[in-house]
Amino acid sequence: MGPPGAGKGTQGDRLAERCRIPKYATGDLLRDAVRLDSPLGREARRYMDSGELVPDDVVLGLVCEALESPVARKGFILDGFPRTQVQAVGLQALLEEKGLELDAVVFFDVPEEESVRRLTGRRVCPGCGAVYRVQTNAPAAADTCDKCGGRPEMREDDREEIVSSRLRVYRESTQPLVEWYGRSSTSLLELAAVGSVDEVYDKLLSAVGCS
Ligand code: AP5
Repeated sequence: MGPPGAGKGTQGDRLAERCRIPKYATGDLLRDAVRLDSPLGREARRYMDSGELVPDDVVLGLVCEALESPVARKGFILDGFPRTQVQAVGLQALLEEKGLELDAVVFFDVPEEESVRRLTGRRVCPGCGAVYRVQTNAPAAADTCDKCGGRPEMREDDREEIVSSRLRVYRESTQPLVEWYGRSSTSLLELAAVGSVDEVYDKLLSAVGCS
């Protein structure tokens, strides 16, 4: 968990690869549905483009479906979910049904100005999904993806005004949930998610007990 741009996806991918388990990011699942132009994707897009949360039942349905996958049997990482109390309660019920428990909730803490800097500087290649940062990791040839020659673009919801809405929604709906996990029996691991990607990864590994 953590505010937009905290590095949940970046770090979750690395940890999933290291642990050889799948990572399910609700943002990615929703963007896939939008790309497919499915009825769910069309509904989700209305919320995503304005930085609002997609309705809980839609998101819970996607997670439920993902966790049915045989590859999730050895464990999984959830990224960007749950984001509301209703989703957290729904997840709890889903896990109980499967006889599972969360090992930990990891909270990536970054100041809002860092979220804005990271998100407004992000460019994603629509061809291969490569992610660039205009400040520190731009493609070698401007506007051309190093990997596939595509044209990296800004995510619609990374525009500064939409990032402000996403941060407001985070403060209102998700931050209270972090506090709720802090009071629950689930282990809440808090990381200062600032510094380089490698530095944050080292903090994550030590927080989750991987050396
Ligand atoms: P989603 O895609 O989940 O977006 P988010 O969580 O708001 O933010 P990001 O995924 O962009 O941030 P992140 O923390 O994963 O950081 P990342 O590693 O990508 O959600 C999008 C929308 O979908 C939502 O607004 C909502 O509408 C809907 N949605 C999704 N889940 C939902 C749910 N559960 N319920 C309802 N609606 C839902 O990194 C960001 C950038 O920073 C990258 O460019 C990266 O390279 C860079 N970066 C990462 N780490 C560092 C570092 N240490 N230093 C410098 N740059 C860094």
